[in-house]
Amino acid sequence: MDLGQTFANFQNLAMTAIAAATNAAELEQVRIEFLGKKQGKLKDLQTVLGQVPAEQRPEVGKRFNEIKDVVTQAWEERQQLLNRPKVAATAIDLTLPGIRPATGKLHPLTQTINEFQEIMSRFGFEVEDGPEIEDEWHNFVALNIPDDHPARDPLDNFYLATAAVAGGGPRLLRSQTSTIQIRVMENRKPPVRIVSIGRVYRPDEIDDTHHLMFHQMEGLMVGPDVTMASLKTVLRLFAAAYLGEDVHVRFRPSFFPFTEPSVEFDVQRGDGWLELGGAGMVDPNVLKAVGYNPDEVSGFAFGLGIARFCMMRHDIKNIRHFYSNDLRFLQQF
Ligand code: PHE
Repeated sequence: MDLGQTFANFQNLAMTAIAAATNAAELEQVRIEFLGKKQGKLKDLQTVLGQVPAEQRPEVGKRFNEIKDVVTQAWEERQQLLNRPKVAATAIDLTLPGIRPATGKLHPLTQTINEFQEIMSRFGFEVEDGPEIEDEWHNFVALNIPDDHPARDPLDNFYLATAAVAGGGPRLLRSQTSTIQIRVMENRKPPVRIVSIGRVYRPDEIDDTHHLMFHQMEGLMVGPDVTMASLKTVLRLFAAAYLGEDVHVRFRPSFFPFTEPSVEFDVQRGDGWLELGGAGMVDPNVLKAVGYNPDEVSGFAFGLGIARFCMMRHDIKNIRHFYSNDLRFLQQF
């Protein structure tokens, strides 16, 4: 028998079997078959080695040891490889530099809305909600806005063509959140103390401070002793809570069909004043329209622009930033 060939055969078979093992159990079988101390193939080779004539034995023994080392080492390497934890192809590659997982945030306007609601609930105002598609009663008529008032011009509102099909009078996207005053008073007896924040729509020319969709916070307080002083106190406290204690506010005479008297509410900015909304004492005609008695209760109402406040606090110059989804802007909040 050619001993060299026997050794080579052993090595080839062992190496092939090691490479073919795909898990620890298979690899263990290979170990027992080839390298097993008691009856493996290596043990058989050793027996053969014992029969070699004494003068050849050192050289053959050296060859035997070499093969044994090569196979043992291949087996150990395979074992390490099979033991290594498997990483799924889709898993995050931890060796890549500097990748931060993106975390989402609330939109700056949503953050402002949440804060407004939180401040106003501290003052005891409940939060109400209402539809964005309105009828003329809630958007105009009950608010004492007559038919010939310029605010009712179809060109100044988003009337819906589908409303005619649905029946029940013209519908429009609400142009103001004052609709909520009517909806709340229709459904409740006084006293009432609510705010409502939502979108309103006007076909305005879009510029740095105007958009055809924007958010308002409507406030309404009705009860036996509600006065202009209550209105001024609430608005000043609100502005101080959001913009800081040192804020300066101003009330300017104005006109709205649904408040009498009416005011514009301004906040000082630099050398000038920024108009943040309208307000006033609820007009007796509005109280009557919802079935309240103007001799028993009085109330104030206000409507503030959400974005204006947010722009003022963060020194944002252009209202379009809120709607352009530019991460360089959004990530700053
Ligand atoms: N609805 C008015 C507007 O959109 C604001 C307002 C609300 C004024 C409540 C007075 C009272 O301009």
